[in-house]
Amino acid sequence: MLSKTIESKLQSQIEKEASSSQLYLAMACWADVNGFSGAASFLYAHSDEERMHMLKLVKFINERGGHATVPALPKPTKEFETLQAVFKSILEHEILVTASINDIITACLKENDHTTNNFMQWYISEQMEEEQLARSILDKLEMIGSEKSSLYMFDKDLEAASKTHA
Ligand code: FEO
Repeated sequence: MLSKTIESKLQSQIEKEASSSQLYLAMACWADVNGFSGAASFLYAHSDEERMHMLKLVKFINERGGHATVPALPKPTKEFETLQAVFKSILEHEILVTASINDIITACLKENDHTTNNFMQWYISEQMEEEQLARSILDKLEMIGSEKSSLYMFDKDLEAASKTHA
């Protein structure tokens, strides 16, 4: 049985994962209409992945005697400056999500909630991968700068990466 504190922390994590999914979907739309079809595929897939993260939490709460609430979400922005700005914002966002997952684990340890702690370990590994991936994409984009033919090639690489990572 979940304590009220843990349930409420998991609930706010649901909101963060759902917001991530919406944000990445808005980024995918921007990439799609700006000629970055590889980045768009990557971001559509990433958006789906965040929805799956949300759903896992929803099911966990319901299976553990709680009742998950489907959150209302703010509308994400439609406009982004550059592809580099998109991935910079993803990395910053994922760092915040990791901090929030760490906070849940700290609360689980305080309450001796080993079941939720164990469940949340999956998110820890997932965050490590996501931060690492966003960092490596951002590093490459920083090297490329605004050089069009390299950006084009990089976009093709993201198409391939979307099939393996996102
Ligand atoms: Fe599910 Fe990328 O946080």
